[in-house]
Amino acid sequence: MPPTTTTTEFRLGSAPGGLPEIGHAMEFQKRPLEFITSLAPYGDLVQFRLGPTPVYLVRHTELIQEMLRNTQTFDKGGEIFEKSRAFFGNGLASSKDETHRRQRPLVQPSMHVRRIAEYVEVMCDEAVNVTGTWAEGESFDVTPAMQALTTGVTARTMFSTGGGPDAIAEVQHCLPTILRGVYTRMTAPEEMIEQLPAAEKEEFDDALTRLHGLVDKIIEDYRSAGADRGDAMSMMLSARNEDGEGLTDQEIHDNVMNLFSGGVETTASSLAWTFHLLAEHPEVERRMHEELDEVLDGRAPTNDDLNRLQFTRRVFTETLRMYPPVWLVSRTTPDEAELGGHTIPAESTLMYSPYVVHRNPEVFDDPDTFDPDRWLPERMRTHPRGAMIPFGAGRRKCLADNFAMTEGVLALAIIGSRWRLRHAPGTTVTTHVAATLGPGPLPMTPEARRSGVDPASTG
Ligand code: HEM
Repeated sequence: MPPTTTTTEFRLGSAPGGLPEIGHAMEFQKRPLEFITSLAPYGDLVQFRLGPTPVYLVRHTELIQEMLRNTQTFDKGGEIFEKSRAFFGNGLASSKDETHRRQRPLVQPSMHVRRIAEYVEVMCDEAVNVTGTWAEGESFDVTPAMQALTTGVTARTMFSTGGGPDAIAEVQHCLPTILRGVYTRMTAPEEMIEQLPAAEKEEFDDALTRLHGLVDKIIEDYRSAGADRGDAMSMMLSARNEDGEGLTDQEIHDNVMNLFSGGVETTASSLAWTFHLLAEHPEVERRMHEELDEVLDGRAPTNDDLNRLQFTRRVFTETLRMYPPVWLVSRTTPDEAELGGHTIPAESTLMYSPYVVHRNPEVFDDPDTFDPDRWLPERMRTHPRGAMIPFGAGRRKCLADNFAMTEGVLALAIIGSRWRLRHAPGTTVTTHVAATLGPGPLPMTPEARRSGVDPASTG
């Protein structure tokens, strides 16, 4: 029997095993998904150790909600956030509660639904651009293709005109190197970073300097032009709180870096997983194509079409359930705290994993089955509260959940109207666990569905 302490409601337990010095660090580093999934029998709140640090995996949906909604008691912090601040600054994603409360209302308007409606054209345009080089029968890797799409969308919605097309190309050039490098620097021991090849370190430093420089220049250009260009940068520059205070240039800079770091790989991985799942489930794919043909008949979607693409939306939602790109989220306790009737010491790390929750058979029936219809309204009502949390919850819920859903559905609509993607022969798809949960290399072959129809044309 697993060692657990029973309380009236929520069980606290400890992970078995663990070595004297390093605790469970090796299992966690080597096979993180398997390790955290294996903790299911040990309680609603399971303690393990990463080196000397005690960590709690919060498993029960009610406790996760409590942790995420109580942002002062369970704040951002700890070594990983300290390291990420060195690269991305002190924007929404890593700031402490007090700073976050002041910044969030000033950044949020850039992702308001009205703004998102204005971003639809850019989102469609980028999906069309990315597919422009695809040719019948010629395989390509879907993961970087989707990253090019989401980088283009994020950059163009953030600064529509600032810097011109060169700026977008610069972001597309620098960002993949930065995201890869930051993940290594946040998770690997110091000695390992020092031993990285000089060329790799140089490439990373250069990409980071160039992106910081570009963002500074764009802020300066926007400040001197003073016009509202209908993009996220204009919104951040003009936002004021009730005391008439806005964001400083440094805060805008840091939040632009946060939007890039949070907005590119996440949606790209979800899109790549969706194409993998569609290829594995031809009946789901057929239904999605039928909906696209019926609603769009080959033309590009508009904001008004989004409500009519309900099945396509369910497909994307179900992918986010099975492969939530943000697979692990953490908090720390500045002071001693209480969760589910248990005392959590000060300076503890708490984690929850959307992946673990979404694959829990006590939360979702047949959790390993790709079933978009579980998101039909009548079936959704049967899921427990807080069961679906790919975007987190509470005050620190993803700033751009609506943006990401819109971007995902539009990309599926544009691509699916024109192409069917098949796994290239001999492909084995693996789960790649890094900052986001991606499919790793995903070579697929496009087959034209409708010839002579241009999804870029408006109808
Ligand atoms: C499928 C796509 C996405 C997923 C699954 C996702 C998931 C998440 C999650 C789980 C959090 C909360 C983390 C926490 O509680 O510590 C978060 C925060 C955040 N996300 Fe997303 N995200 C996605 C797309 C985006 C996009 C497209 C952007 C920007 C364009 C973005 C920007 C942010 C920012 C700035 C935060 C920090 C919010 C705050 O603390 O106030 N995300 N995201």
